[in-house]
Amino acid sequence: MSEPRGGRGTLAQVRDRVRARVVGRERELDLVLAAVAAGRDILLEGPPGTSKSTLLRAITAEWGIPLVFVEGNADLTPARLVGHHNPARVLREDYSADNFVDGPLVEAMRNGGFLYIEEFNRAPEDSLNTLLTAMAERRIAVPRAGEVVARDTFRVIASMNPYDNIGTTRLSTSVHDRLCRLAITYQDAQAERGIVALRAPLTDLKPAVYERLVADAVALTRATRSHEDIRQGSSVRGAIDMTLVAGQLLNLHPERTGPAVPDETLYRDVVYDSMVVALSGRIFLDETVEATPEQVLRQIWEDHFILGPAAAAPG
Ligand SMILES: Nc1ncnc2c1ncn2[C@@H]1O[C@H](COP(=O)(O)OP(=O)(O)OP(=O)(O)O)[C@@H](O)[C@H]1O
Ligand SMILES: [Mg+2]
Repeated sequence: MSEPRGGRGTLAQVRDRVRARVVGRERELDLVLAAVAAGRDILLEGPPGTSKSTLLRAITAEWGIPLVFVEGNADLTPARLVGHHNPARVLREDYSADNFVDGPLVEAMRNGGFLYIEEFNRAPEDSLNTLLTAMAERRIAVPRAGEVVARDTFRVIASMNPYDNIGTTRLSTSVHDRLCRLAITYQDAQAERGIVALRAPLTDLKPAVYERLVADAVALTRATRSHEDIRQGSSVRGAIDMTLVAGQLLNLHPERTGPAVPDETLYRDVVYDSMVVALSGRIFLDETVEATPEQVLRQIWEDHFILGPAAAAPG
């Protein structure tokens, strides 16, 4: 992709500016940028909340091109993807290019944007075929509206969740053969603490209390990803929400030591309550497990606050 919208520096300069908008992810950023700059379309495969949208927003903003979102589900028919004629105007004027309402694919092609299809594997087969044609030919014929030719910065970015029950095997090998692919996993704890600090700043708390809260929120959220009863744990979104909710819960107890420096019991209770609110809907238990999400979270909380320190203590 050579300098969309009249030159914004070399690829390395674009990369450096995008880095300022994203915590970590240097390697993924380089790989995605290299693929799109090479003129390729790419599939990002990773669980929810692993910075796929964040990366794409930062790249397209830096390049000054649109990012067009569309969700891949059974409703995404080829007509919805491509667009439709305005029925009222068709009655008055008959079909024309003029009364065609662009769908996301045509919008992205005309404006040279990225078409970002989330849950790509859930889109119906005929919509995938429409997309593959647009990707291969860089143009599509729209009945009664004429031919749409893509600007040269048009790209298709697909994403899917490897934990999705519908599975990655549904896509035919011919679809996979037409896309580059990058697997994205969770970031490390330090990067996740950086993300939470960026998205959930709490200026009322003493810095040491805040730092501890962020560290606990990230550790507890990460623990949901490795717990034996949990099929899919929470992304960093859970840690962000937990931190925000905990901050508000502390505000609700000003009578106990003041919200800025809570006592230990209050602190732990608040962490548990914010866990229930922020994480219970974000964890998916194994089908064979009888426990409730709250019970599993309680166990994770106990392991963290009660067993954890004891196990780590010397002697
Ligand atoms: N590397 C990062 N830098 C800054 N913020 C991040 C980063 N990763 C995630 N976030 C934040 O975490 C949240 C989830 O990230 P994002 O929306 O990019 O995930 P996603 O991979 O697109 O998820 P989904 O698959 O559910 O759409 C957002 O609030 C985002 O701001
Ligand atoms: Mg997203």
